[in-house]
Amino acid sequence: MNCHYFKNQTSNRPLYFNSRRVPFNEAQALIKKILPDAGFTSAYETISKWPGYQPTSLINLDNVADALGVKSVFYKNEAERFGLKSFKALGGAYAVHKCLEMLIGKNHVSDHKSPKIKKMIAGITVTSATDGNHGKSVAWGAKMLGCKCVIFIHEKVSKNRENALKKYGAQVVRAGKNYDESVKIAQEKAKENDWHVISDTSYAGYSTIPKHVMNGYEVMIYEAVIKQSVRPTHVFLQTGVGSLAAGVTASLFRNLDYSPRIILVDPENADCWVQSIKHQKPVACVGSLDTYMAGLACGTVSVIAWEILSKTIEASMSISDLDAARAMRCLKFCKRSHYAIEAGESATAGLAGLILTSNTSTLKQQLKINKDSQILIIGSEGVTDRDIYNKIVTNELLSET
Ligand SMILES: Cc1ncc(COP(=O)(O)O)c(C=O)c1O
Repeated sequence: MNCHYFKNQTSNRPLYFNSRRVPFNEAQALIKKILPDAGFTSAYETISKWPGYQPTSLINLDNVADALGVKSVFYKNEAERFGLKSFKALGGAYAVHKCLEMLIGKNHVSDHKSPKIKKMIAGITVTSATDGNHGKSVAWGAKMLGCKCVIFIHEKVSKNRENALKKYGAQVVRAGKNYDESVKIAQEKAKENDWHVISDTSYAGYSTIPKHVMNGYEVMIYEAVIKQSVRPTHVFLQTGVGSLAAGVTASLFRNLDYSPRIILVDPENADCWVQSIKHQKPVACVGSLDTYMAGLACGTVSVIAWEILSKTIEASMSISDLDAARAMRCLKFCKRSHYAIEAGESATAGLAGLILTSNTSTLKQQLKINKDSQILIIGSEGVTDRDIYNKIVTNELLSET
């Protein structure tokens, strides 16, 4: 497969531009108010000491850049993150750490291996709803620190993803038809049982933990901008509830001195960000939430993510499952490349969004994508369900017609 094949891929869907975007200084001040610098400093100090920490690769997709006529396309490969195979390892596990600090104090958490503290922590239960990756991170964090963990998954989460959660020692409960329903069930059960909710999405009255989750995600951009020296003009970000995009955006505004153009990319059947930008207020998605991009199958935007993204992003768009599948095949098989990246179903929405807009001249002009553009993409996961991945890249699922 030659990556030039995607020259024919254009978009007939509109871009929704964000009329609430504010100038750089105002956006940076707002972000620092919502997520103060100290929150990120603490996240980086903690996460960088976890066993196995190292920055994930920033891969130069030079063949894709050539084909699209831009200066560079960089792919931050979160498949490498802590063996959990997704960026989510940075958020949920760090929020478990912060939750325990709130419950028993920072010094006790640092001393979590001593018998007395071990016993104290063993009596604490954390819980969360997940479509797979966030729950895995919460379960991993709970295991690392020694507390109990109950994870709720909805009926469409694959068996392989359920088994992966169990591997990290969590009790896994199947409840709810979709992610939004299992979020509500996790909240109810936590109240009944005095468990602690570690949610990656923020809603009315619940924002402290999701802010810690975002601080954890910021590590990706700290690595990319400060350690790997990327200076993006454009950033295409896939969206579920929007915590990934908000954490990335917060870190871009913390570490750069200009506003890159940020474009959010939703699956067409789970388009809560498209609907919200279109109506300029948080609006639930109108689709069925049916998508192979399991991590993006969310119907409601996170309240804190909305506060950040509604003031900073340029535009929002949607893509189909086939668009994401084509980008997965391109990363795996492109003959002109020096890499063969295995990117999971939720990892390539940003790349697919870039390909579609760059090949559609009106959209390309509107987004000011040109030969000087340097694009950043977050490859948010590797292969998190081998059966589904293999079927997609071999055309058994989502085949070209
Ligand atoms: C691999 C992957 N990418 C992207 C996302 C989207 O993140 P968010 O829900 O914070 O927008 C998720 C969420 O689960 C995910 O698992």
